[in-house]
Amino acid sequence: MNPPSHGPFGAVTALAALPLLALAVQGAACSGEAKTDPATSSTAGAGGNGATASGNGGALSATSTASNGTGGGGIDDGVTLINPSLHNTILGRPTDRSVAISVLADKAGDKVVVEYGTQLSADKLSIVGGAQSPAVASANGEPIVVELTGLLKDSKYYYRVHYQAGGQGDAPDNVHSFRTQRAPGTTFHFGVQGDTHPERFKNKMFSADLFKLTMAEVQKRQPDLYFTLGDDFSIEKIIEDFKKQNFPAGHQFLRSVEGTLAPAEYALLPKPFSQPMLVDGVSAPQSNAAYLEMRQKYFGLMANATALLLTNGNHEQAHLANLGGVFNNASVWAADARLKYYPLPAPDGFYSGDASKLLPKNGYPAMAATDGLLRDYYAFTWGDALFVTLDPYWHSEEVSPDSTLFSDPEPTWGATLGDEQYAWLKTTLESSTATYKFVFAHHVNGNNRGAAKIVTVQEWGGEPGFKENRPGWAKPIHQLFADTKVTIFFQGHDHLFARESVDGVIYQEVPNPGDNSYFPYNCDAYAPSSISWTGPSGYGKYNPSESVRLPDTGFLDVSVGPEGVHVDYVRTYRDIDLQTDPNNIFTGTEKNGEVAFAYSVPPKPTDNQPKDVAFTCPGAAPPADWKFNP
Ligand SMILES: [Fe+2]
Ligand SMILES: [Fe+2]
Repeated sequence: MNPPSHGPFGAVTALAALPLLALAVQGAACSGEAKTDPATSSTAGAGGNGATASGNGGALSATSTASNGTGGGGIDDGVTLINPSLHNTILGRPTDRSVAISVLADKAGDKVVVEYGTQLSADKLSIVGGAQSPAVASANGEPIVVELTGLLKDSKYYYRVHYQAGGQGDAPDNVHSFRTQRAPGTTFHFGVQGDTHPERFKNKMFSADLFKLTMAEVQKRQPDLYFTLGDDFSIEKIIEDFKKQNFPAGHQFLRSVEGTLAPAEYALLPKPFSQPMLVDGVSAPQSNAAYLEMRQKYFGLMANATALLLTNGNHEQAHLANLGGVFNNASVWAADARLKYYPLPAPDGFYSGDASKLLPKNGYPAMAATDGLLRDYYAFTWGDALFVTLDPYWHSEEVSPDSTLFSDPEPTWGATLGDEQYAWLKTTLESSTATYKFVFAHHVNGNNRGAAKIVTVQEWGGEPGFKENRPGWAKPIHQLFADTKVTIFFQGHDHLFARESVDGVIYQEVPNPGDNSYFPYNCDAYAPSSISWTGPSGYGKYNPSESVRLPDTGFLDVSVGPEGVHVDYVRTYRDIDLQTDPNNIFTGTEKNGEVAFAYSVPPKPTDNQPKDVAFTCPGAAPPADWKFNP
């Protein structure tokens, strides 16, 4: 590896090898290729057993190349199509045999048919030998979700959305791709990003242009899966406006009063909540329609070729403690919007997860989803890896972790995964035979700052009081991670890149994807010289020499294969920021899309080392005179 160079924050600019980039082929926007009118065709035999690839369609062509539905096909021609989505398509909940394709609808009555198969034409513009889904209609203008099932295992599929306005005609999208579950022993990669915070625009932590550059890097690399870590859909401006409109300045919200406000009293408020995140984002105030805008403007740029998997953060305010009182609507509508616009997993034969139903409380309604499932935590395997996402926010009864909604002090043991999620996590980790285990959550304990520094406390570390406050829990969460050999725990919330290791578990803070301050927020909470462990004996081994910190912005591209795990920190920059460098933080060698730091598990000689980064923490937040380009 070439010697790295350093900016004032010590950014490593030597690039690590990119082991997994497939051949990129620039696909053209579709224009006039021959199309079968899905509305008039008949059944096609899909790759696999064709469970739902039937209905109103005729064969798009004679035979699928993926006609062997017994699984283990392993079909992948290695082609990467980089095509925009014309109909805003989001892939979700992929399994060994299925995937969900969510398409934004313009109006009620519009329909979608999906053409899909495993083989492309020579010019890469058409699917050869494909099948087609039944037509699915939008009843009320909500997104259309087409579930493709009966697919070949461990295979790459190409697909094309055919949009039928009013159920007529055909507006075909470009060809995109997805993957079914990888087989053990195969190599693949996934992406993970930290907090987006689009509500912090106007040079407070978010640049739309920079976030789009990050999405473009994801689109280029096309990981099978892409995890978000929360604080992507803040609705707090809506809540703040609601508070201002209905309560005097400085009003102290208490859980014992507003947290249990009866619906009849709520109805007397001068300006109760409107349904902000469900209305059109164009005419709505900023922050409204957050869930819709995020896919319209950003996630839709890359999630047509990568399955999107969400994790809740504290700013989503999708919190159990908000239910049954003045903030009930905000939390329930956040849950509704999340499930409406993003196809997320529920427990089934492939995924495990939150099987409990969110019930109405104190006379307020619960969610719109008739199954009552929050789809907020889930686990599955992919290749040699177990993936686990966690959510303390829907399971902390007494406290909204890291929330300013209520003035009551946050009780020390208030934030929790809850008994049910803990039991599921323990079973999931202990029963998994996967070589690698990755866990994702917004933050250790759901609150505070740092990772190694705070894995020692509360239910994570098992400090004194653990037995009394978590009766029935066999061991604290960090100990569970260490005992089951969790490879990496990914968290956001702190807005920087930071890697630490405790008892062999890597705690990886993931940078923001669109922060044009390029600042290492909260770096003072990371890389402590030691940690104060008061949990079970034999744990708490921390080596500060393994810790590394770097500033925003970008995402992590993580490859998994028989040789191990490889983590690339892909940094993104706007040209204007590199050219003008208003805060004198760049070396002049930075390039958008570069790998700023790379490491492996187990370690390899080619890894970047912490000593490569001559990092000096400039403080928890930028000084008041930090300069931003327009
Ligand atoms: Fe955040
Ligand atoms: Fe956060």
